[in-house]
Amino acid sequence: MINIKTQVGIIGAGPSGMVLANWLKKLGISAVVLELRSREYVEGRVRAGLVEQNTKDILKELGLDERMKKEGVVHDGVYLSFDEERVHIPFGQLTGGRTISIYGQQEITKDLTDAWLQGGETLYFETKATKIADFDTKNPKIHFIKDGEEGIVECDFVAACDGFHGIGRKTLPKKSFQSYDITYPFSWLGILANVAPSTDELIYSYHKNGFGLHSLRSETVSRLYLQVDNGDSLDNWSDDRIWSELSTRLGTPGWELEEGPIFEKGITPMRSHMIDTLRSGRLLLAGDAAHIVPPTGGKGMNLAIADVKHMVDAFVHFYKKNSETLLESYTDTALRRIWRAQDFSNFMTKLFHKQDEHGSFAYRLQKAKFDYIKVSKAGKTTIAENYVGLPFNTF
Ligand code: FAD
Ligand code: PHB
Repeated sequence: MINIKTQVGIIGAGPSGMVLANWLKKLGISAVVLELRSREYVEGRVRAGLVEQNTKDILKELGLDERMKKEGVVHDGVYLSFDEERVHIPFGQLTGGRTISIYGQQEITKDLTDAWLQGGETLYFETKATKIADFDTKNPKIHFIKDGEEGIVECDFVAACDGFHGIGRKTLPKKSFQSYDITYPFSWLGILANVAPSTDELIYSYHKNGFGLHSLRSETVSRLYLQVDNGDSLDNWSDDRIWSELSTRLGTPGWELEEGPIFEKGITPMRSHMIDTLRSGRLLLAGDAAHIVPPTGGKGMNLAIADVKHMVDAFVHFYKKNSETLLESYTDTALRRIWRAQDFSNFMTKLFHKQDEHGSFAYRLQKAKFDYIKVSKAGKTTIAENYVGLPFNTF
């Protein structure tokens, strides 16, 4: 039997768990991390790439942004395209200098994990948290299994940063929260390709064939997405078909999409999921454990890290000021930003995806929105400030 005592027991070594661990360490609060998967698996998992200003500021404050500054790409704007017409949204100009960076989620997680382990801290990979107990007392416990051996983390608080399929949400008392779910009637087919991006900034595009997104990872690697039907299979999408469709959907007169070898392909369903409680006693949830947003707008990882900021504020008040006030308000504080992001992600999803026949009422509303954004500084500002993320002191 392995027995560990710490102040905060963290389940999950994704971005939320590892930001939390490193932040607590900086503040002199002890933590241990349990992660179900292997280190190779976590660091190889291809996911987010869009890093908001707030997330960049947090990584800088933790002194963990060196590699992101070197290898990440700063974007001062985004292109929005509709029926082959493109507009540019200049972030800095509209938000007082705020920007985003493109830097893979797995790279952030790697930087955070390296820092944690180099500091000699505890992180058990391939370790399954099986039960969270006694979270309605001052001594909650995480039961786990590592290499066939059982163990217990005894702590003051359990931070469930364990993603959508974790045990944190399932442990919350059923009657303590309401949940909300939307399943969108389409999915994203995403690729990574060894080819220089054909654009300097991201392109979100509505086309009568469906949505397309041109993102990137570096000067030599492009990340692109296509709207496909739910239940569609990669077997239906040869590399040639993918490139031809991307070229059509992202196209605008005078622009060409460069093609290259595809080295990663996957289909992801689009959903929104919410619960309206992020805490029960000494159990606190952060990130995908509590909410999923559709990826249009790139909010998921950023929201996960924003939850952690509020959680850290609550722990600081508890340990340094002997106050439970911010623990009590954790749910409400976090939910305000999470609902804002749900709304923005839903807005971007509906604006750029094909929802009904070209020319239908739904299409005409989408086009009317785009035509407004095209000419209105207010319309562009709404997109810019939500996209780079509203500052913590204002929202
Ligand atoms: P996760 O990253 O899911 O981490 C949870 C961890 O907990 C996992 O490592 C899991 O193995 C572990 N775990 C689970 N159960 C247990 C257990 N019982 N015991 C121990 N460990 C456990 N977001 C953005 O901000 N920008 C983007 O551009 C973006 N693009 C995306 C594109 C795609 C295709 C997808 C799928 C997602 C995208 N997202 C994006 C969303 C983003 O990837 C997630 O929101 C983010 O990973 C959430 O981080 P997390 O730490 O909350 O959870
Ligand atoms: C990505 O680069 O993976 C990405 C970028 C923007 C999004 C979603 C995903 O909205």
